[in-house]
Parts: sequence; C-alpha cells; structure tokens
Amino acid sequence: MKSILLQKEDIGKGSLVLINSCHILNSKAEDLVSFNEKFHDIRLNRTARNALSFLLNDIASEDKIIPVSGYRTLKEQKEIYNTSFLENGKEYTQKYVALPNASEHQTGLAIDLAFNEGDIDFICPRFPYYGICQDFRNRAPNYGFIERYQDKKKKITKIAKEEWHFRYVGYPHSKIITEKDFCLEEYIDFLKKFVYPDHPLQFEEYQIFYLPYHGEDICLKLEENDTVSGNNVDGFLLTMKGK
Ligand code: DAL
Ligand code: ZN
Repeated sequence: MKSILLQKEDIGKGSLVLINSCHILNSKAEDLVSFNEKFHDIRLNRTARNALSFLLNDIASEDKIIPVSGYRTLKEQKEIYNTSFLENGKEYTQKYVALPNASEHQTGLAIDLAFNEGDIDFICPRFPYYGICQDFRNRAPNYGFIERYQDKKKKITKIAKEEWHFRYVGYPHSKIITEKDFCLEEYIDFLKKFVYPDHPLQFEEYQIFYLPYHGEDICLKLEENDTVSGNNVDGFLLTMKGK
C-alpha cells in the first residue's frame, strides 16, 4: 500500500490524458526511450514502447512494420505543421496534422507506423486494413493501444481517418474503448459516471473510477497493481486490478 497525492498539475499527466484542440498539452512527456537501436531517433514513453515491442513480437513483425514518428517536441510539431501548410495547403494540414500543443505525439504516447515498402509518406504512411497491419490493429487493444482517429469519429476528434496512428492508453482501457466503439473523447466522457468510491466500472478483474478535481489535492491509498492517470480535462482515472 502506498499513499499518493494528486494535485492540479497531475490532471495533465498519465497514459489516459486526452489531447486535442480543446484540451491541449499540460505537462512534459515523461520517461522517453528509443524505439530500438535501429530507430533510436524515434522515442516513446517507456511503458508504451515496451507494450509496442511485445505487440510487434506477437505478430512476428520483424521489420515488416516500422515506426515513422513517435515523440515530437513542440518545435518539431510546429515545423511539421508549418511545412505541411506550405507544401500541402491548409485543408490537408488541418485534416492530418494537429496544431502545436494539441498533438498526442508530444506526450510520447502516440506512434505512427508504416507497412515497410518503398517510399514512406511521413504525414500519411500506408498502414492497410489487411495482412500484418491488420494483425497489428486486431491485437493492439490487448497491449494497451487504440486506433485513435477513425472516419466515423472525425466530427468528435476533428482529425481525419489516420489508420497509421496508434495511441497507448493502457490495458484494460484499450479493450473497453475498442469493444464499445468509442473514441478517446467519448471514453473520457463515459467514465464520468463511475465516480470514486461507490460506482466503479467493472471490466474483467479491473475496477475503474473517475475522481473529479474540485480544487483541492486528493490523497489516495493505492495497492501495488493500482494505477492513476489524469484525464487532462477535469480529474483523474483510477484503475484497480484484482478486485
Ligand atoms: N497526425 C496527428 C493528428 C498529429 O499531428 O498529432
Ligand atoms: Zn500520428
């Protein structure tokens, strides 16, 4: 058992933070590591990188799937946005590139992947809905990843379909989001019904709670397997395992 203190600035930290044009980045990316030796310039949050390695191993990807873009600094996101604006125009850029500080890539929790064949488009890499890429997509929720931008959700996410962009949210959230056919915006909203401590969302052996932030620090006692993340909106999400 350990005690943790949740403060206002913690709302912007953790694997469940919602980052979009309405909820911009509020903290620095934590614990960044290289994807691997070959792609050492591509960095990700350590937990996300480890989960991604297991997933790629599971589908025996070897180098059939390669990383294209992981963690981006604010400067890099600005450069990508501005360069795309000049080269591809406003409409394309607004569809496929988040505004600086509204990009999940700045958290280290997002990865763009490509099917490894010939020229790879940096902004819109090819990641088809068949073959090994589909194997990846099918198993991603078992490893904490979601396909973040789907056509049917673009009115909510404000980003066009990006079949190459995966976001680490952690298990079991990835599984629930996928089973319920939510985008992350909808999931964060849905969880508000499950207020701590009386109304958990039960899924498999997990209990998930929402803890609204009312302006005062929150002190919590956690068991070893419990995790907590800010939602980057208005509170925290507590995930308890084995209850
Ligand atoms: N392509 C995604 C939306 C980003 O720039 O973060
Ligand atoms: Zn991306």
